[in-house]
Amino acid sequence: MKKVIVTCGLPGKALDRLSKKYQLYIHSSKEKSMSDEELKQRITTADAVITLLSNKIDKKMLDAAKKLKIVSNYAVGYNNIDIEACTDRNIWVGHTPDVLTETTADFAFALLMSAARKIVVADKYVRNEKFHGWFPELFMGCDIHHKKLGIIGMGRIGQAVAKRALGFDMEVIYYDTRGDLGINNAQSVKFEELIETSDYISLHVPLLESTHHLISQKELERMKESAILINTSRGPVIDEKALTKALQERIIAAAGLDVYEDEPNVHSGLLNHENVVLAPHIASSSKETREKMTEVAVENVIRVLEGNKPLHSVNKI
Ligand code: DGY
Repeated sequence: MKKVIVTCGLPGKALDRLSKKYQLYIHSSKEKSMSDEELKQRITTADAVITLLSNKIDKKMLDAAKKLKIVSNYAVGYNNIDIEACTDRNIWVGHTPDVLTETTADFAFALLMSAARKIVVADKYVRNEKFHGWFPELFMGCDIHHKKLGIIGMGRIGQAVAKRALGFDMEVIYYDTRGDLGINNAQSVKFEELIETSDYISLHVPLLESTHHLISQKELERMKESAILINTSRGPVIDEKALTKALQERIIAAAGLDVYEDEPNVHSGLLNHENVVLAPHIASSSKETREKMTEVAVENVIRVLEGNKPLHSVNKI
């Protein structure tokens, strides 16, 4: 019987499809993924593995896998996996695009609104019984409507964020390495123009060598003093130390972050700042979407173990 490993409990019922056909091992925790050491042992005899972003699938891990046919990542991103090494070993890499696009865009916009309108600090103020009366300058934020949103990376999620912004009568500009994508109601601009003129900047690029620290001190210094930076892509796209300094020194106004350079660690300087909204990498975390992600991750496994291509693959073998 073929063996499938799942490195963390996943929401929904789709894993039942696997237990009917295969010998299934699901890591007992729904809050912490299987350790690398345990995965390295279990992967030896596995035909398929469903992984989280926190599972590093590198050459050493793959060398331990003697029968593996697919690494099915429970995420759209796959920077935790050595894709080339998988391809060299005839191992498919599956992922879960599409199902999380709108949910992630909702969350990017929620972070933008929370940072602009100071919702998190205002909530704390009320809970701490500090609200003793209305006054004109209480938690003055900044407008969202009719402001300029700059989107870096105009893929599926970037475009879904743009759609939301248009409902707020925002002007949308974008920078994408592919150039002008001919998108209605959004103007393609140079990276520098986006950085210098946007009121809000939202990042939607994959983590690659070319996007590592795409936003560092130099870019932060070129932004408007009133700029608000939103990141729901990958932490290392921003130099977190430089961002902390920029927020401390009011080089930019605020930030909304769902991802961090060294997750789950967060730069200590960010924790003390009120002008940054911090979330624990939950942009795709709605019940509906996380269940759909399980369905796609499972479908990718079943298709490969039945001799077909995954529904969504990152590589070709
Ligand atoms: C992804 O899918 O890449 C996210 O970061 C988790 O949803």
